[in-house]
Amino acid sequence: MPEKGIYDELPDGVVVADADGRIVVVNPAAERVLGRSADETIGHDYRDVLPFVDGQGNDWWACTRPYDGLPTRTRQPERLLVLPGTGGDKDRELLMTAAYCRDGDRRVTRLVIMLRDTAARARTERSGAELVSTVAHELRSPLTSVKGFTATMLAKWERFNDDQKKLMLQTVNSDADRVTRLISELLDVSRIEAGRLELRKQVVDIAALVRRDVDARIASGESPDRFRVEVTGELPEMWVDPDKLAQVVGNLVENAVRHGAGTVTVTVEPHDGGASVTVADEGDGIPVQARGRIFTKFWRGAASRGGTGLGLYIAKGIVEAHGGAIGVEQTPAGGALLRFTLPAGTPSFAL
Ligand SMILES: Nc1ncnc2c1ncn2[C@@H]1O[C@H](COP(=O)(O)OP(=O)(O)O)[C@@H](O)[C@H]1O
Ligand SMILES: [Mg+2]
Repeated sequence: MPEKGIYDELPDGVVVADADGRIVVVNPAAERVLGRSADETIGHDYRDVLPFVDGQGNDWWACTRPYDGLPTRTRQPERLLVLPGTGGDKDRELLMTAAYCRDGDRRVTRLVIMLRDTAARARTERSGAELVSTVAHELRSPLTSVKGFTATMLAKWERFNDDQKKLMLQTVNSDADRVTRLISELLDVSRIEAGRLELRKQVVDIAALVRRDVDARIASGESPDRFRVEVTGELPEMWVDPDKLAQVVGNLVENAVRHGAGTVTVTVEPHDGGASVTVADEGDGIPVQARGRIFTKFWRGAASRGGTGLGLYIAKGIVEAHGGAIGVEQTPAGGALLRFTLPAGTPSFAL
């Protein structure tokens, strides 16, 4: 008889086989992990239900022989095993542990197998490792250049003229800026991920904030023809964090300038009791298949133009911390169109 109840609420899969190796228990978590119902598995041989192979492709049960192997063995430590896919299914990796319950003659009376899906764990581990390696790589390239130029200048100071030295120092300077920027972006990322993005909200004139961003770009050498700011309609009183909002606008306009082309049009208008800001350009736009990914960490388009791939991730984090939303579309001419909306907001008081 199948035993019900005791294993039902366990978060891990439990499969129990009796003294003859017939499955007597498959709890709901195991049904989920295996993708097979208890009805399909109860009464079958454990080797048919769980045809595990190890990393080398060896039949796991033939290697470990739970029923006629070493009579002193009482458990099998956690192992990552492969459950070969049947039909068109893919192979699956599962974490497995087993306990051998023995009677007075040391015969196995029950084989208790615990199963755990590794997909979620593997994903977080992989993304952690990927993050470290991406960050290390991003930090190394500017530092390599800083090191290279300073070492060269120190070794051959007399051989360079002032213009050459100036050029090298400018490169060193901008690489140092790049490292600083990357680090402050990483700090933003960690605040966003920890849910600790602090907003200091105040009444902000969003149109003026957009104009300030554009004016600063023109002052630092961009052509005024590249920008158009359109303000339509009357905005409500907007309570937002001015520095963070400037960061979002700055990221979007910077992207339009750097990744897009032609005139960058920023439109500010009322939306649903709050405001919406649209940044559109006349470049090639963002391919449809990439649109789901542009807001993820470190995602960059094929033609890397020196960015870190964190800009849009941070923009999304800031907009969402304000209770707003951000999305990507395209202009009728095919350029990129990024648009975010913000609720009017309420004052936030520091506690
Ligand atoms: N206006 C745009 N036109 C075309 N591609 C864009 C635009 N804005 C963003 N992208 C694409 O989205 C990617 C991610 O942007 P972002 O997160 O700001 O990273 P970064 O600017 O550092 O590359 C960019 O690398 C680029 O490929
Ligand atoms: Mg960017």
